[in-house]
Amino acid sequence: MARRICIAGNWKMNKTREEAVALVSELKEKVGHIQATDTDVVVCPPFTALWGVSEALAGTAIGVGAQNIHWEESGAFTGEISADMLTEIPVQYAIIGHSERRQYFNESDDTVNKRLNAALKAGLTPIVCVGETLEQRESGDTETVVDRQLSGGLAGISAKQMESVILAYEPVWAIGTGRTATPQQAQEVHAFIRRKVADSVGDVSQRVRILYGGSVKPGNASELLAQPDLDGALVGGASLKADDFLGIIEAATA
Ligand code: 13P
Repeated sequence: MARRICIAGNWKMNKTREEAVALVSELKEKVGHIQATDTDVVVCPPFTALWGVSEALAGTAIGVGAQNIHWEESGAFTGEISADMLTEIPVQYAIIGHSERRQYFNESDDTVNKRLNAALKAGLTPIVCVGETLEQRESGDTETVVDRQLSGGLAGISAKQMESVILAYEPVWAIGTGRTATPQQAQEVHAFIRRKVADSVGDVSQRVRILYGGSVKPGNASELLAQPDLDGALVGGASLKADDFLGIIEAATA
């Protein structure tokens, strides 16, 4: 079944507001011809640049996402950002459970699940990340780890809710390392993820988009996206330069 391709840029902790607006202005200008096609393009700048980027992209088809979201509506949670604060901007997407949050900020499958529920309640499209470390892959635990992340992170999510969820498979060993998973390695895990989603919510799994993330570049995007269960990319480093990001979008729309 045809699923709409989604190319999302995760800028991580990069770009001031001014730099961010400059980058999206360039994207806006050059991506115009692509907007009519079947590809969703999304940028996820740091929180401080969300207002500026959202304003610069108003009226275009390029979506805006946050890199995290807190599960409470408001309260004494120093340093956190709620769903209402994001939808006010407006932001349409939220990355949840990125491996850097799991690794450096004690994100757990339980908090991923809470954030996911908050995002869905607010009408945001969550991009939920899963993926194994090199050690886990080398010890043959990839499927066990991904299965655990999916069961915990997606616990209690109904088939109807799952329709609005985007998943991202990001093998930790491929993030920022230049070491991309081969198309076959990625496809194997994507197919596994889809089977697991089918086990819990049935046929909706055929409509759920699963993005691949980990050293995606203009030069390897076509080969990756040609795999049947790869429905787009979550791009880190290469989303920080307009030409590289546009190259990936072009590869996806070719
Ligand atoms: P890189 O594309 O820099 O490997 O980062 C991938 C990523 O973590 C996207 O969320």
